[in-house]
Amino acid sequence: GWTMQRADRPIGIFDSGVGGLTVFRAVQKKLPGENLIYYGDTAHLPYGSKSAEAVKKFSLKIGKFLEREGIKLLVVACNTASSVVIPLLRRTLAVPVLGVIEPGAWVASRATRAGRIGVIGTEATIASGAYLKALRSYPGRFRILSVPCPLFVPLVEEGFWNGNVTREIARKYLAPIKKWRADTLILGCTHYPFLREVISKTMGPGVVLVDSGEATALRVSQILTQRGWTKRDGRGRYRFYASDASERFKRLARRLLGVTVDRVVIKRFD
Ligand code: DGL
Repeated sequence: GWTMQRADRPIGIFDSGVGGLTVFRAVQKKLPGENLIYYGDTAHLPYGSKSAEAVKKFSLKIGKFLEREGIKLLVVACNTASSVVIPLLRRTLAVPVLGVIEPGAWVASRATRAGRIGVIGTEATIASGAYLKALRSYPGRFRILSVPCPLFVPLVEEGFWNGNVTREIARKYLAPIKKWRADTLILGCTHYPFLREVISKTMGPGVVLVDSGEATALRVSQILTQRGWTKRDGRGRYRFYASDASERFKRLARRLLGVTVDRVVIKRFD
């Protein structure tokens, strides 16, 4: 019947580039049977230093494209896009839309003991106040300190996951949050889970690090279950699109995630 057809449709996941593959991997791990389509907007990367208007324009085109591809659910894997475009996408698209901010904020709201939550992300994500807004909508009293960490993305993409330079930059960025004695820290950017070890060592023991990607994968599985849209059998199949530089996409996918992407189809909208 109709529900079965719906269940077999792919989940669409998009990001400004390869970073969202952390979310892709989390969804794949949680729901190995689901078909996934991934779109990386490598032509417009990075989103984190762009205006909300620009990010909205790119995201809307990608969302519409993925809907035409027949997806049953859209996951905005990019924190920057999630922080500015979710209401617009929900108004415009017929499929349900899930961003990474709400799931991450929810997990943090449950994890915090003293209600002191630190948030790190791109400049655009922090400027949007999206995590703040999401946290305020959940039960509990929270104090929130947000800090942008713009150098983390290029560090991760260049393979600096450890070592002196990265530790020193992390120390500088995280000092105010540490001094403020946050008990929970939201890793509010696709790339930050790669720096988990350095961030965790810098913050010290007892600080809970929240990976928005993992929280989102959990939410995806809940939504599919609630709607009866979980794919029943078989292994998932994957399709990858990018707006530019497919070789770099493949190389980074392999280096960052050990994901071998055989084919990346270039798809542009302008
Ligand atoms: N994907 C972006 C995010 O999660 C980071 C990379 C970018 O700035 O485009 O905010």
